Amino acid sequence: MAIQRTFSILKPDATERNITGAINALIEKAGLRIVAQKRIHMTRGQAETFYAVHKERPFFGELVDFMTSGPVVVQVLEGEGAIAKYRDVMGATDPSKAADGTIRKVHAKSIGENSVHGSDAPETAAIEIAQFFAGNEIVG
Ligand code: CMP
Repeated sequence: MAIQRTFSILKPDATERNITGAINALIEKAGLRIVAQKRIHMTRGQAETFYAVHKERPFFGELVDFMTSGPVVVQVLEGEGAIAKYRDVMGATDPSKAADGTIRKVHAKSIGENSVHGSDAPETAAIEIAQFFAGNEIVG
C-alpha cells in the first residue's frame, strides 16, 4: 500500500470539549502523521461547499449549522493507506455502531455531532485538502 494523504476535520463538538489532543493521540497511535493542521471557524460558504454532495439530504441545514457553530481543526494526515486507515480509526458515522476503541466510539456524541470527518477516496481527499490548505502549508 502506497503512502497517501487524507483530509481530516476535528469538529466543533471536539473543540468545545477540549479533546483535540486526545483525538490527535489516537490518530498518531494508529501510525498516521499530522503533516498540516490549523484551527479555523468555517464560514457558511465554506461548509456548504465542503458538504455540497449532501445538499439534497434532509440533514444538510443541520450539518452546516453545526459545522459553523464553533471552531474546527482541519488537518492533513499522511501514512500507508491513510484514507482507509483513518476511516478505520474514526469508526462508523453513527457512534452507536462504531467499533470499540475508535474515535467516534470513544468521543462522538451523536450521528451529527460525531467529532471527526475523514475523506472517503483519493479524489475527494485531493479536493478537500485543496479547499483548506496551500501546498506550502503541508510539511511531510
Ligand atoms: P461526515 O463524515 O463529516 O460526512 C457527512 C456528515 O453528515 C457526517 O459525517 C455526519 O456528521 C452528518 N450526518 C450523516 N447522517 C446524519 C444524520 N442522519 N443527521 C445529522 N447529520 C448526519
